[in-house]
Amino acid sequence: MAAIRLDSVTKKYDGVIAVDDLTLEIQDQEFYVLLGPTGAGKTTTLRCLSGLESAHEGRVFIDNKDVTDWSPANRDVAMVFQQYSLYPNYTVRENLSFPLKSRIRNITPDERNRRVEYVAKTLRIDHLLDRATDKLSGGEMQRVSIGRAIVREPQAFLMDEPLSNLDAKLREALRLELKRLQRELGATLLYVTHDQVEAMSMADRIGVIRDGVLIQSDKPFEVYNRPKNVFVAGFVGTPKINFLEGHVTDGNLTLKGTTDTFRLKTEVMDKIGNVSGEVIVGIRPEDVNLQQQQDENTCAAMIYLVEHMGMENWVSVRIGEHQQIRAVTDSAFEADVDATIYYSFEQEKLHFFDQNTEDSLVL
Ligand SMILES: Nc1ncnc2c1ncn2[C@@H]1O[C@H](COP(=O)(O)OP(=O)(O)OP(=O)(O)O)[C@@H](O)[C@H]1O
Ligand SMILES: [Mg+2]
Repeated sequence: MAAIRLDSVTKKYDGVIAVDDLTLEIQDQEFYVLLGPTGAGKTTTLRCLSGLESAHEGRVFIDNKDVTDWSPANRDVAMVFQQYSLYPNYTVRENLSFPLKSRIRNITPDERNRRVEYVAKTLRIDHLLDRATDKLSGGEMQRVSIGRAIVREPQAFLMDEPLSNLDAKLREALRLELKRLQRELGATLLYVTHDQVEAMSMADRIGVIRDGVLIQSDKPFEVYNRPKNVFVAGFVGTPKINFLEGHVTDGNLTLKGTTDTFRLKTEVMDKIGNVSGEVIVGIRPEDVNLQQQQDENTCAAMIYLVEHMGMENWVSVRIGEHQQIRAVTDSAFEADVDATIYYSFEQEKLHFFDQNTEDSLVL
């Protein structure tokens, strides 16, 4: 397998900038997930890498070779798409063999059979080898599509939302298998999705992209705990992070529309360069504490709604005139709507963002 590099790649469609000066390096054997909303430029990035599109500016490297002017075939990367691109009237075996039959590849029938058997076994579709592909379930079809990419033994895999047509249960199962498979093959994999759970669960590193711009490229832990801006913070995590309007004066955080004030610890103030003025505060629901008794570190709130999720509850509370906070509690937590409750934050877990730029204030 091979490392991949995009160097200041820009791609425009009729004046629309789909990918904007994007630089990205994917290590050999890395599972890299490009995560972003619809229209962010994810597919375009993949197409520039595979050679299906040519970039207007910038260079593309595969295995340290500049492949910018190479044809897709010569780049030797395998793509897997959201919609299964199988030949419907042929068997699974035939579908898996096709990519190996091309004359330029010069693969003997024995070698071909060996690879097809191996891939079928690895993907657990060996019992389906002689079945026509139009008589398969969605999950089975997508395994065959992935198998077709694997048999070629390419330099790298590019996958464009390959699981998004499957139901939630199957997606969860295939996620696990895909990650295992990538490890076993030692594959370099660039995986595109708009699903943050997929990204968090599979990626060695995540690149968050919006409007063609790569905002942050980091390990999942970093993306979750040290988001670069409001957009990244809001894009990962379920339930979603709370954003609150606040004001910092002399190390005190006051939430807008309330008199709720929290004395910020010195470490917290140091981390944000002793900022003062209007800020956007981010706090994840698991870092909000609710308690029945008041003490000097808590403020009062009103229960808005309790959602029972099985292993935990999601409790929304109202503070002041217009702000709402969601907390994750254990499943035994009970409270009546409109009852008074007392809340506080895990201070170390507070995020602060500039109100105008929405960038993180953490130094
Ligand atoms: N062939 C094209 N012609 C014109 N504009 C295009 C073309 N392909 C993509 N675009 C535009 O480029 C931008 C990026 O599109 P792209 O398909 O890369 O997004 P994406 O992140 O893959 O989105 P999705 O999650 O919906 O698949 C969008 O604004 C899109 O409308
Ligand atoms: Mg796309």
